[in-house]
Amino acid sequence: MGSVGPVTCGSGAESNVYFTKGLKMRSFKKAAKIGALVLVAALAVAQAFRIEKTNPPVQSDIRADASVKHILKRSCYDCHSNETVWPWYSNVAPVSWLIADDVNGGRKKVNFSEWGNYPGGTQKRKLEEIGEEVAEGNMPLPIYTIMHRNASLSQEERSHIKNWTQEAVAKLATNSTN
Ligand code: HEC
Repeated sequence: MGSVGPVTCGSGAESNVYFTKGLKMRSFKKAAKIGALVLVAALAVAQAFRIEKTNPPVQSDIRADASVKHILKRSCYDCHSNETVWPWYSNVAPVSWLIADDVNGGRKKVNFSEWGNYPGGTQKRKLEEIGEEVAEGNMPLPIYTIMHRNASLSQEERSHIKNWTQEAVAKLATNSTN
């Protein structure tokens, strides 16, 4: 079982063992070669499935203090606006698929380029979510900051965003009672 069996090579048991080992090694190498070829072929085929790198027009960009806007642009806009800067590796499948997923998913939840189109109640809810996500460290997505080091937020920047969302929610509340 497992060994090559009745093959006799050389004389005696010892050389038989070497022969069997050699054969196993060779079939392993062959399998690895086939595996690598299959992988290369799959990657080549994957390149045909290109993502759509859209940047629709900016409709009504969010208004905020320059200090807040600066942080949002630096850490959020690639996924939450229509001003995505698509990196070179967004041309390379399968990474490109993950990036497209993040941008599409991100824009769907919060799109700062279409902020003014949201009704007041929606803006309020989204501001609260932004405050929470940033304070808890869920956003920007950790996988993003690996490649975009300067998008990481310091503790002060996180509190700055949190405070801004609270002030903006309060402002919305007074505006809607007028
Ligand atoms: C790499 C892309 C990426 C970056 C950068 C990013 N986000 Fe997100 N964000 C997403 C995705 C994708 C989702 C949707 C997650 C889901 O559906 O579970 C999301 C969801 C959200 C949500 C909604 C959460 C919910 O549960 O509904 C908020 C709020 C948010 N992001 C805020 C931010 C803020 C603020 C920043 C910047 C500080 C930021 N994001 C940076 C990709 C990103």
